[in-house]
Amino acid sequence: MCGIVGYIGYRKAQDVILRGLGRLEYRGYDSAGAAILSGKKVKIIKKQGKLKILAAELSDNPIAGTIGIGHTRWATHGVPSDANAHPHSDCAGKIAVVHNGIIENYLDLKRELKKSGHRFISETDTEVIPHLIEKFYKGNLEEAVRNAVKMLKGSYAIAVIHEDEPSKVVGARCDSPLIVGVGKDENFLASDVPAILDYTHNVIYLDNHDIVVITKDGVTVKDMSGRIIRKKPSLINWDISQAEKSGYKHFMLKEIFEQGDVIEKIIDERIRDGRVRFDELKIKDADFKGIKNISIVACGTAYHAGLTGKYMLEEYAKVPCSVDTSSEFRYRNPIVNRDTLVIIVSQSGETADSLAALREAKKKGCRVLGICNVLGSSIAREAHGVIYTHAGPEIAVASTKAYTAQLATFYLITLHLAYIRKTVSAAGLKALIKEFKRCAGLMNDLLSEYKSDYNIIAAYAQEFKKYYHLKHNKSYFLYLARNINYPNALEGALKLKEISYISAEGYPAGEMKHGPIALIDENPWVVCIAAQSKTYDKMLSNIQEIKARGGILIAIVTEGDKEMVHHNVNYTIEIPPVDELFSPLLVVIPLQLMAYYVALEFGHDIDQPRNLAKSVTVE
Ligand code: G6P
Repeated sequence: MCGIVGYIGYRKAQDVILRGLGRLEYRGYDSAGAAILSGKKVKIIKKQGKLKILAAELSDNPIAGTIGIGHTRWATHGVPSDANAHPHSDCAGKIAVVHNGIIENYLDLKRELKKSGHRFISETDTEVIPHLIEKFYKGNLEEAVRNAVKMLKGSYAIAVIHEDEPSKVVGARCDSPLIVGVGKDENFLASDVPAILDYTHNVIYLDNHDIVVITKDGVTVKDMSGRIIRKKPSLINWDISQAEKSGYKHFMLKEIFEQGDVIEKIIDERIRDGRVRFDELKIKDADFKGIKNISIVACGTAYHAGLTGKYMLEEYAKVPCSVDTSSEFRYRNPIVNRDTLVIIVSQSGETADSLAALREAKKKGCRVLGICNVLGSSIAREAHGVIYTHAGPEIAVASTKAYTAQLATFYLITLHLAYIRKTVSAAGLKALIKEFKRCAGLMNDLLSEYKSDYNIIAAYAQEFKKYYHLKHNKSYFLYLARNINYPNALEGALKLKEISYISAEGYPAGEMKHGPIALIDENPWVVCIAAQSKTYDKMLSNIQEIKARGGILIAIVTEGDKEMVHHNVNYTIEIPPVDELFSPLLVVIPLQLMAYYVALEFGHDIDQPRNLAKSVTVE
């Protein structure tokens, strides 16, 4: 949801900004811009469209200067256009501001500012910020920024430059992420770590209401009353190569293929001497023992991981579990209390609704556990305890490896709770751990079947495209499953619609007769997750019902399935045999690949699908 970068040092600011924005494009990509202090002037350039348009413009007309700020936008207020793109400026054109977040009271502020003569040229909420800074500026930019942000309601991470103070960049944050990259004779501001990893691995995570001033050789963080806050930089222990495509056509494909290794690494790190170890977790075993129920809260793909978590936690840890999307949880006044463990699942750790749900849960006295991928993110810091998924940076907007890492984390939590609460015997736990480890290896085996671009799922996607045109674009997807793979049906449908813009719906197969069956004719392609499970026979009946009504069927089955051949499905995809509990880790791989290859067939921008953003920091 918008990415910002700030730079001060000895390099060409435009190069640092463009490179940094390139690494943040996952946050938004409908327009981009930069402001650079060039000579004694602030020069602003901004363009509607992807970053490459700005880059081309800057390559034709470079702006000299070693201090600057940049922005890649995901529009909230005002259509994507040159005028609405950031940076925004004041009346005198001396100040430039980039912003990630939403200023909720911008209309009131704008009205007041207009009354006192300020002129506005965009439809954005952001534009009030440079005008407020202009209003408060009396020769001290840091002070003016502090006074300006005191007026703001909503969320912001900002970076500001002023041509009268050409040796600093000022930043501030509230509920939108902002980090400082600490370099040698240079310093950086950014929304996320990948933007600065080419230059430094030393990072300061700013907190809400921090005001930071970066100069060429210093970083000063102060609070709202101007008191200095000492913050030690953390060392980032992963490399930028992990945020590169490494020969894959798309980040999404690369991240799909990383999943086996990610899960193996998670298991290696977390299971020692036959027990699950969460070294960083501040919640004690005794607290886990005392919980009476679990409430899982998340958005998007993370929500689907949470739904899967419910199946395992209830069955093996014997704890009643509810699952909510964050936007519902926070407003529905859920019945949770100090006996409830609230688990907030979030890849980015910054999703606004999930963060608000976390705060709501804390207010109600619950213990809050975060499952996050991004280190030092807001949810990770505000939860009572965090378990990091350690999936590495996920760049593609459509989440894949973060999802399976979240699933793996739920398996670990389940095993941990089952151990503490003695709901599974020692021998039972040993067997489950063994199967979990085996499953990680099977993920790699399964992925190796799809290494070439000429694989069966790519072929099915080609067939789908032909069929889609044959049916005058009326074809679409329906995903059906039961039990622990039902959330995978939702996830398969979500992946497909996110990147191919083809309508797709996920449903519990048993509910088909209560509605979706009315849709079945020769148009939909119905993906039935029919791997070996206790509900396998029921899935076979559903397959028959679909077949009888002319639907095109893709069945995901277990290798060696002898039954399915008699059911005359159109296409089959096999996964290796595994205990049903762990099957979601394998089943989701063909679903992700199906979404990928369909989007590829249709020629869509897979890593940057329209209208979406990876980190949704608005409500
Ligand atoms: C966005 C992303 C999804 C993600 C969801 C929740 O919609 O496009 O991929 O699942 O946000 O994000 P989080 O970072 O909280 O997991």
